[in-house]
Amino acid sequence: MATFKELINLEKLPSHVAIIMDGNGRWAKKRGLERSKGHEAGAANAHVIAEVAAELGIKYLTLYTFSIENWSRPDKEVKFIMKLLSEQLLEEDIFVKNNIKFNVIGDFSLLDPDIMKSMNHCIQRTATNTGMCMTLALSYSSQWEITEAVRNIAEECKEGKLKVADIDKDCISQHLKTSYMPDPDLLIRTANEYRLSNCLLWQSAYSELYFCEKYWPDFDGEDFYKAIIDYQGRERRFGKTSEQIEI
Ligand code: IPE
Ligand code: IPE
Ligand code: MG
Repeated sequence: MATFKELINLEKLPSHVAIIMDGNGRWAKKRGLERSKGHEAGAANAHVIAEVAAELGIKYLTLYTFSIENWSRPDKEVKFIMKLLSEQLLEEDIFVKNNIKFNVIGDFSLLDPDIMKSMNHCIQRTATNTGMCMTLALSYSSQWEITEAVRNIAEECKEGKLKVADIDKDCISQHLKTSYMPDPDLLIRTANEYRLSNCLLWQSAYSELYFCEKYWPDFDGEDFYKAIIDYQGRERRFGKTSEQIEI
């Protein structure tokens, strides 16, 4: 019998996969552990899935890691996640080994300078890698990102660099933090929640959504392949009719 991986059509891979990595806390609770253990397992799993995605040939992987809303979690949890980031998630060797180009998007004004330093180091060290581009959405929320874009567009209009009449869909996309990548083709959310929680709202206008019951630390390579197979079975119409797509 063919494995899930063998069922994937490599000619029709999604170019950009985004993942809302949810369920770390519940994963830990189910095992009678502290939430922090769930975050540890979740961070380790981010590396596993990054390797699986890179090896498969995915060009862009975006991992929703920490939302702006997550700053309002208990202090202890926020501190733990931030420590994890610098100690575990920003493990450069894994990016170097897999030829992954690393990037981060989010409101950096809220981040500790030490984390910014490790992040920038990781970005620089992987800048010339030619494989998958992996982006962490960290201290990120879509409404914040869109607000920033609107503010920048307004400034450019005021300075005469941009005409109001020239503001169109592409102009807005170009002012978002994600301007260097295509919109996600596939957006996965784990842990049995059916919402976007402020993740890539503009960019997911035509993303295929895939929800999965497993908690993020349990979401493995096979689950990733299943999501890709499911995606490949969808018909993306972008407003057109089925008949128009078949032509
Ligand atoms: C996702 O897991 C990680 C972050 C949002 C930082 P959660 O911590 O939200 O886990 P649950 O949803 O409470 O199980
Ligand atoms: C979304 O998860 C944010 C990340 C995965 C980084 P949350 O657990 O914060 O989402 P809500 O609060 O349940 O919507
Ligand atoms: Mg959650």
